[in-house]
Amino acid sequence: MHDAWWQRGAIYQIYPRSFMDAGGDGVGDLPGILARLEHLEALGVEAIWLSPFFRSPMADFGYDVADYCDVDPVFGTLADADRLIAACHERDIKVVVDWVPNHSSDRHPWFQESRAGRDSPRRDWYVWRDPAHGGGPPNNWRSSFDAVGPAWTFDEATGQYYLNSFTPQQPDLNWENPEVEAAMHDTLRFWLDRGVDGFRMDVIHKIAKDPQLRDNRDGERRRDEDWPTIHDRLRRIRAVLDEYEDRMMVGEVYLYDLERLLEYLNSGDQLHLAHNFAFLHLPWDAAAFRRGIEDFTALSSERAWPAWFLGNHDHQRLATRHGPAQARAGMLLVTTLRGTPFVYQGDELGLPDAVVPPERVVDVDGRDPERAPMPWEPGPGAGFTTGEPWLPLVADADRLCVAAQAADAGSMLALTCRLLALRREREVLRHGEQAMLHEVPAGVLAYVRELGGERVLVAINFTGAPAVVPLGGGAALVLSTDAARAPGEALDGALALGPHEGVVAELGRSGILRRP
Ligand code: NOJ
Repeated sequence: MHDAWWQRGAIYQIYPRSFMDAGGDGVGDLPGILARLEHLEALGVEAIWLSPFFRSPMADFGYDVADYCDVDPVFGTLADADRLIAACHERDIKVVVDWVPNHSSDRHPWFQESRAGRDSPRRDWYVWRDPAHGGGPPNNWRSSFDAVGPAWTFDEATGQYYLNSFTPQQPDLNWENPEVEAAMHDTLRFWLDRGVDGFRMDVIHKIAKDPQLRDNRDGERRRDEDWPTIHDRLRRIRAVLDEYEDRMMVGEVYLYDLERLLEYLNSGDQLHLAHNFAFLHLPWDAAAFRRGIEDFTALSSERAWPAWFLGNHDHQRLATRHGPAQARAGMLLVTTLRGTPFVYQGDELGLPDAVVPPERVVDVDGRDPERAPMPWEPGPGAGFTTGEPWLPLVADADRLCVAAQAADAGSMLALTCRLLALRREREVLRHGEQAMLHEVPAGVLAYVRELGGERVLVAINFTGAPAVVPLGGGAALVLSTDAARAPGEALDGALALGPHEGVVAELGRSGILRRP
């Protein structure tokens, strides 16, 4: 059966500042990533998604782009980007880059021109408005960052406010202006021409807002994002990607309403994939996850393909949020569900958040702890840098580092490698059907993947107490998050699960499990 590359294996998110520093300045860079490609090969990822490495004053660590078509010197050069893309392709690893279309940096020449005067030809490339009657911001929209407050910044020189959905250093581009749309399409072509395989699209639901900029009101549809114009805007972006072969767009669609989310996927001519934040924010509870998966499935058209993730550079890490054993179970979950798994760098090590003392805080929104550098080797700098890392390392880096875990068959790294290998080996895990099982003990999430008579059971115990899943017949253990359990173990009539244990088991062909 044919599957697209973006449906096949895991897409691994690299946060370049924190992956590997080849230059010794304490900040990760593109040559650093190049030097660590072996790790990605050993993991067996299908693709990498690189968080922004474009020219930026770093007010939001690269999500404030001053030149969409150049590499920031802290990360390297365009030639480094070309080398990295080529090296990944030689290893059959696709490359996805981050595209930040909702806002640029306030240092972008477009904004500099825009703010130069009310009659600047680029004035309308951003969202400018007069103060409200009686003064103050034009409407009640708020920045996504609590610390920022209102989404408007007053510009003394021209006497108007500009819209910033994030920091004041990230003015929102005006997507109502066709020139902006065309210019942003060209930034996609720039990277497509350089050979990138796809884009992760930053807060893509925000590029369509109520053109009348009316206030948000409780109980009504929000007017500062996900406006109905989004869908045609996405279709036009998709058309740009479709000028090239086999490219992919995954949206950061930060909407908790799955119906809304699926509108970005169901028609098949908008996004290929969308990050599902409702899933990320679920409590560690089997019933909640079952519902989350079933709701997504129920609302999906034939053309929508799921994507699953439990962490990124904006959220507390799973091992800290729920615990190390849960992190193992979570990895098993996202890699065995029908859909594309996304893995955030360091989650393959089960990294916790770092402790960041107040004097080392650099992020405006409290996200430093999950952005701590990757520990590669024991010792100072953890093999990440020969200098002073830009953020503190995680506690216990010597024990959690790649080198230590690579030497330990029971490690989280070994488990992740095994899970990704299993996905490659077993077609059933890639595009088998998926049926949720309901007659299992409370606290257990279980589903069967099935393809052409091959049936695989996945069962995860979300509780700290042992649980037993009754089986109507024989099965054999393929893999467990409990490294002490040997593959091949015969499961006769029952599958016993330890606390927070997840397993993959091969079911006999004789219809041994009650089907829902
Ligand atoms: C989402 C990104 O993941 C986050 O890091 C960033 O701050 C905002 N979008 C604004 O670009």
